[in-house]
Amino acid sequence: MTTPLFRNFERIVFFTGAGLSAESGIPTFRGKGGVWSQYDYKEYACQEAFERDPEKVWDFLDVRRGAVGKCEPNAGHRVIAEVQKAKPATAIVTQNVDGLHARAGGRDVIELHGSLWRVRCDRERVVRKDASVSMGSRKCSCGEYLRPDIVWFGDMLDERVVRRAIKALESADLIVSVGTSGVVYPAADLPRIAVRGGATSVEINLEDTPVSEMFEYRLRGPASEWLAKMNA
Ligand code: APR
Repeated sequence: MTTPLFRNFERIVFFTGAGLSAESGIPTFRGKGGVWSQYDYKEYACQEAFERDPEKVWDFLDVRRGAVGKCEPNAGHRVIAEVQKAKPATAIVTQNVDGLHARAGGRDVIELHGSLWRVRCDRERVVRKDASVSMGSRKCSCGEYLRPDIVWFGDMLDERVVRRAIKALESADLIVSVGTSGVVYPAADLPRIAVRGGATSVEINLEDTPVSEMFEYRLRGPASEWLAKMNA
């Protein structure tokens, strides 16, 4: 089976995960050296942990913002942005909170799990961008702790964001899943919408995942290499 090429498609959806940003030096969440093998997500990435000890959660996030802030988009991010420029109906649906798609030139990135670079006050119901590596005040002017605008374990995804993703997936002629382990739901099931819609389906990963069976093409190896090959 010859590898599908982006030039033969118009309505492409890139569905990306931490494996895409691994080549920028950002650790993935699972697997060897993964964030959750070093930090217990029950202590650092859920609402209960935040209510229990917001300073501890913010200390963790400052470390993450510090590390991610030093990283640059890689060739994989750049290919995706380039394809989107050439094929305007292309959508980028990501689980990543690192903001590297946008920094590579990606447009209207659909961030399923939020962003490291936004904070919100749930009392005032305000969300604002904050790209400072170490947060200034961790509190809103109302005195409440600011929360990172990230979807933590146990949180619901933002319905408006999910609707945008579903709309893109429903009209896709090519779905490319890149660097995700396919174990976190409901995100992991989203590519199936495009597959059911008859889109050509590709999974790029270093290894098989629990959702590999849904993809026609299972390309094994580094994301940036396969994305470059598909961009021929
Ligand atoms: N190229 C391609 N795939 C890669 C590469 C690479 N260079 N490096 C790692 N991978 C693959 C791994 O094999 C793994 O399947 O990327 C995947 C990363 O999986 P996870 O760390 O589980 O990341 P992800 O699937 O994005 O996690 C989903 O879980 O922790 C939560 O909210 C967080 O958005 C995150 C969600």
